[in-house]
Amino acid sequence: MKRKPLVGISMKLYKNVSNDMIDYATHLKESFQSPETVDVFLLPSMGTLHPVADALKNSSILYGSQNMAHIKNGALTGEFSIESLLELGGTLVELGHYERRTFLHETHDLINQKVRLALSHGVSPIICIGEPEGLDEEAATAHLMDQIESAFNGCEPSSLTSAILAYEPYWAIGQAEAASPLHVHRMHNLIRGILTDLYNKETAQGIRMIYGGSVSKDTAGDILNHEDVDGVFVGRFGHDVNQFMEIVRLVKDSKPN
Ligand code: PGA
Repeated sequence: MKRKPLVGISMKLYKNVSNDMIDYATHLKESFQSPETVDVFLLPSMGTLHPVADALKNSSILYGSQNMAHIKNGALTGEFSIESLLELGGTLVELGHYERRTFLHETHDLINQKVRLALSHGVSPIICIGEPEGLDEEAATAHLMDQIESAFNGCEPSSLTSAILAYEPYWAIGQAEAASPLHVHRMHNLIRGILTDLYNKETAQGIRMIYGGSVSKDTAGDILNHEDVDGVFVGRFGHDVNQFMEIVRLVKDSKPN
């Protein structure tokens, strides 16, 4: 099955001033010319989502939030609602990032509630999965299977192909270099196998899978060189919009239609 390549960036909590992000989004919108062949998304720092949404109106750049609450509305101080995301025209939400699982203690069950809320509202969850350092392949596979199975628990199998899996090994986030292409290829292949075992071949082949963790314009090319890698999820090495655009071009060129 043909899957559309996908490349995106999360600004985490790095660029928090509206004007910086409006400049970034505007530059990105002007530079990106190939929406038919590759999807590009931007997840700005949450406080700048509104101005970024305004800047990206009528463009082909997708955007969304880096998190959301597990309920639509109610007594949940300081959280961000899917209702606001939808009002802003966001179509994506990042869930289960390592930093939220680890520092904010998000549980499998909480992530699952968010995944179900997103899917039932037509928002594509970008579900981050990854293993901690030091696991052998068998233990890493069991860890990933647990994350996938719990995230999709109770979801209609037919809805799963609008989700995106981001494979982000914990030990490769925030480093000088990404995980090796060999490792990424092996794990993406294993994850595709896990999806086939848990659901079916069609679902497994339909879910897009991107690699994240210290990807740069220098490492993206080799990482992308495998059929189970549908794109990359960029962090710090995309803060310069020209560098991010170089990565977008690499994705486009390495995944011809
Ligand atoms: P990084 O972030 O590239 O800055 O490591 C990637 C991520 O956490 O998604």
